[in-house]
Formats: sequence, C-alpha cells, structure tokens
Amino acid sequence: MSDHDYQPSSKLGKWFNDRLPLLTLSNHLREYPTPKNLNYWWTFGGILTFCLIVQIVTGLTLAMHYIPDSDLAFASVEHIMRDVNYGWLIRYVHANGASMFFLAVYIHIFRALYYGSYKSPREIIWIIGMIIYFLMMATAFMGYVLPWGQMSFWGATVITNLFSAIPFVGEGIVAWLWGGFAVDNPTLTRFYALHYLLPFLIFGLVALHIWALHIPGNNNPIGIEIKKPSKDTVPFHPYIVIKDGFALLMFMIVFAFFVFYSPNILGHADNYIEANPMVTPAHIVPEWYLLPFYAILRSVPDKLFGVIAMFAAIFVLIILPWLDTSKIRSAVFRPLYKQFYWILFIDVLILGYMGAMPAEGLYLLIARVATAYYFIHFLIILPILGYKEKTRPVPLSITEPVLGGSPNLENIKKKII
Ligand code: HEM
Repeated sequence: MSDHDYQPSSKLGKWFNDRLPLLTLSNHLREYPTPKNLNYWWTFGGILTFCLIVQIVTGLTLAMHYIPDSDLAFASVEHIMRDVNYGWLIRYVHANGASMFFLAVYIHIFRALYYGSYKSPREIIWIIGMIIYFLMMATAFMGYVLPWGQMSFWGATVITNLFSAIPFVGEGIVAWLWGGFAVDNPTLTRFYALHYLLPFLIFGLVALHIWALHIPGNNNPIGIEIKKPSKDTVPFHPYIVIKDGFALLMFMIVFAFFVFYSPNILGHADNYIEANPMVTPAHIVPEWYLLPFYAILRSVPDKLFGVIAMFAAIFVLIILPWLDTSKIRSAVFRPLYKQFYWILFIDVLILGYMGAMPAEGLYLLIARVATAYYFIHFLIILPILGYKEKTRPVPLSITEPVLGGSPNLENIKKKII
C-alpha cells in the first residue's frame, strides 16, 4: 500500500469494501506497473474501449426511434435522419463508429502480431480477443441488415445462405435462421434482438480481456518479461492515462473527419434504396472490414469448402500461440519474421481488395493465391521459422541498454545500434 492509496474512511465504505473491494480497485488500476517503452501502438486498447462505449450509447439512442419491422424500418431510419433532433449525427456516428472500431481492432491485432503479444503467458488474452473480434463481426453484420436497404437485404440473403452448404442439415439451419422461407420480417426482428444483445456480451468479454491482461501485465516493444514494479515500469496514472488520452484525441479527429466530411464514403449507395426481394443489386459486397474473409470464401470453387476456409481463416488465428514456435516474441529481434509479417500484411490488403472486386478472371486468380498464402503463412512458415530463424540478441531489461551495464550491451551495439 502506498501513501497515495485511497482507503474508504466512512464506516459504510469500509463495510462495503471489505465485502466487495470495488472502492479500492482504482488503487490497483492507478498503480498498475506499465512497461516504460510502450509505443503508440499500445494506445489502441483504450481507443477500442472508447469505440465500444460510443457504439452502445449511440445504438441505445437510435433504438429509441428505430422500428424493427420490415414495412417500417427503412422509413424509420429516414425519420431519424430528417426529423429527430441530431438524429443524423447519432446515426452517422454509429455507422462510421463501426468502421472506426474495426480500424482500431485491426491495428490492435497487427500490433499483437508484430510484437508477439499472443505468446505465453498471454494466450488467454489473445483468445478472448479473438472471441470479441468474432462477435464484433457478427454484430456489425446484423446491424447492417437493420436499415433494410438493398445491401442489407441481399447481404443477409447471401451470408445466411452459406449455411445451406452444410450437408443434410444445411437447409434446415437456414430456414431456422430466417424464421421462414426467405429473409423477411422474422429475420429482421431476431437480428435486431441479437444486434442489441451482443455489444453487452462484448463488454463483459472486454472486462475479462483486461483482467487476463493484468495477470502477466503488458508485453512491450522488445518483448521481454520484466520485473513489476521496477526501473522498467511506470505507474499507469498519470503516464499512460495522459498518453492514451492524447492518442484518443487524435483518433477522434479522424473519426470526426468521416462523420462530418464524408459520412457515406465507407457505406454503399445501394443501401439508400429500400430492400426489394425482386431486384438483385449488380454487386453484393459486405462492408470493407469483412472483405478479406469474403475474398477467402469466394476464392474456393466449392461452396462448403469456401465456408470452411472462411472459418478456418479465423481458427488459425485462435491457435496462433501454438503455431508460432519461436521463443522470441518481438519482431524487432526476428529479422526473417519481420519480413514475413509485412508480406502477410500486404496479403491481407490484397484479399480485402479482391473481396470488393467481381469473383472472376484475374481477380479470382489473385484471390486464390492470396488465400493460399494466408494459410501457408500460419500453418507452414511460422512453425518452421521458430526453429530455423537466427534471432538477434535480446537485452535483459528495458533500461539497461539505455543506462548501461547490460551483459548483452556489447552484442546489441554491434548488431543493431
Ligand atoms: C472490443 C475490443 C477490444 C478491446 C476494448 C480491447 C482492449 C484492450 C486493452 C485496453 C488492452 C491493453 C492496452 C493495449 O495493449 O492496447 C488490450 C491488450 C491486448 N489485446 Fe485487446 N481489446 C479488444 C480486442 C482485441 C482483439 C480482437 C485482440 C486479438 C485477437 C486483442 C488482443 C490483445 C492482446 C494480445 C493484448 C496484450 C497486449 C500487450 O500487452 O502487448 N484485443 N486490449
């Protein structure tokens, strides 16, 4: 206990805190020893928490005016845009907020991949993160159906139909998902119920994610385990609070740019046409953040295997802590891994681009190569690399290479500085 620790002074406060130490939890959070060398890529966890709260608050407000009925949903969204005070702002923040949430989560995931944050002892943090990511995709997909535009309707039709590829039970599952024999009112009302529920489930999982993080503490850019607290750490408050706050402010500027200057740029124009089961749009494309998976799905000629490949693309990420056999965490000391990391990054961008293009000719060929490479990276390159790669010498602490005295200092000077 330090001098700055808060202790409840009232009898009631003490009584309560002895039974549920919520009042002194802030002491733990304030003092939480954080590695000194965290860079700005570590601010995205806080940014993501902000995004989740924004989605819940704006979503609740939209729900006060939205009508989940296939005859009224489209008009109720227009009503929000035109008649409800600041309804346009709430809707644009919610719609662009979903994109900002995914932008932040992709940065957060690629940060973890670069610095090996998924490795022991942080596997559970990573797996909870993956469950959150999966639920985020489900939530966003169902949310996109609610305005009941053309893309809502046809997106829902295409994606739910995928389940029909499952042998024997597929057709039954699809009818069960739809609540009928086509995407219709029962589909809309159940998607609405689930779209409302899932963010709260995500909220609970975020609490577990952060709890699991606070057991080993943060990884850091050089990826070594450090003593906590020590010369290598700073208390969370004020150091990280101020830094996260500054990063959040920068992020909000980007967010505001989309909301106020190009609120529809990330959406699809067809969704401003009311759903019409008799007219299929020329190109049915999901939102940008789902495109890499859509490309993987379409790159496999067989429908069932396409669905399996799409789910396998997420599954390889879940088991990544066991696929990457290297003992060294950070890419800073892994010269070969660093190169493969960037190839994977470009591969995912290519997949995203191909997901937006028609699945034919050269586009399809490139999507197939990119899909194959995605799996090769995780299933072949990473396991082998752990054994074959010649890594660079790793410092023994964060401060020693800077202040001197590290037994590894001479090696490090020769090899990196
Ligand atoms: C709602 C979504 C999420 C929220 C609010 C969230 C929040 C956080 C926070 C606050 C941290 C600590 C600060 C930081 O390292 O940035 C963190 C760390 C971490 N997150 Fe997430 N996260 C989310 C999703 C994910 C996802 C999808 C993954 C990947 C599958 C993931 C993997 C990790 C890992 C491995 C760490 C440990 C980082 C380290 O110490 O290097 N998170 N998360």
